[in-house]
Amino acid sequence: MDLQLTGNAALVTASSSGLGKASAKALAREGANVVINGRNEDRLEAAKADIEDVAEGTVVAQSGDLTDEDDIESLVETTVDEFGGIDHLVMSAGGPPSGPFLETDDEDWYQAYDLLVMSVVRLAREAEPYLREDEGTIVNITSRSVKEAIDSLVLSNSVRMSVIGLEKTLSKEFAPEVRANAVLPGPHETERIKNLVEQAIDRGDYDSYEEGLDDWANNPLDRIGDPMELGNTVAFLSSPVSGYINGESILIDGGSTGANL
Ligand SMILES: NC(=O)c1ccc[n+]([C@@H]2O[C@H](COP(=O)([O-])OP(=O)(O)OC[C@H]3O[C@@H](n4cnc5c(N)ncnc54)[C@H](OP(=O)(O)O)[C@@H]3O)[C@@H](O)[C@H]2O)c1
Repeated sequence: MDLQLTGNAALVTASSSGLGKASAKALAREGANVVINGRNEDRLEAAKADIEDVAEGTVVAQSGDLTDEDDIESLVETTVDEFGGIDHLVMSAGGPPSGPFLETDDEDWYQAYDLLVMSVVRLAREAEPYLREDEGTIVNITSRSVKEAIDSLVLSNSVRMSVIGLEKTLSKEFAPEVRANAVLPGPHETERIKNLVEQAIDRGDYDSYEEGLDDWANNPLDRIGDPMELGNTVAFLSSPVSGYINGESILIDGGSTGANL
């Protein structure tokens, strides 16, 4: 299926690793020109080279911190300067720290809000005129925690609900020109999950990486997700092929979430 993305301009945040990178890769493979982002320059350059291996379009790497308003303005400016507009805004971010409510202090709450919510607020505000002009798309990468609260993830369970409320609002306020959707990942084998498994091995929770990964693969499909499976869904949601999907939140979790809807 031709996703009709050739020559389109995409800004994908937090994309030097993991789910953001997989989304940028899928868009670039389908012919879009892509700006990728992260804070660490070395990781960003490595991701650029990896994406370029499959890219049909141009890949531009720009470092920047999503909690910094100026960096966000600059990311939007770079996308417009390099590619003449913005057709697709895909927003990922780093994950908030894990922990139960009583071990989470005010600073943790404010930092999680800044990273996960204010980054989306600022990116959407800055990109809106370009997205509207190009009849573009927004996809937020959040978590299955918005459907079902996950143990010891109070920040993810709580703060990400705001992103879904915002996405639903944008799907109305930016329509009919712009569509806005979200994907809700369950466990995918990214650097974040690899680090969490390795930390658990160091704590003595598991004997091997495989044993740790098995624990994350507790779903009907009995395996952890491949980041490209999520990236391909992001490319689909960005494509006119999915043109009647708007304001939707799509679980990508192998069926692990118990909620009926
Ligand atoms: N992987 C999963 O199974 C899973 C499941 C549910 C939800 N999620 C959520 O999906 C999101 C992405 O997770 P992931 O697994 O893809 O993580 P990852 O592999 O660790 O990648 C995170 C990316 O975000 C960038 N980043 C982090 N903080 C940033 C900041 N302040 N400004 C700019 N870039 C920043 C990182 O680069 P730098 O560190 O160099 O900045 C990196 O490129 C997170 O919010 C995570 O909680 C993931």
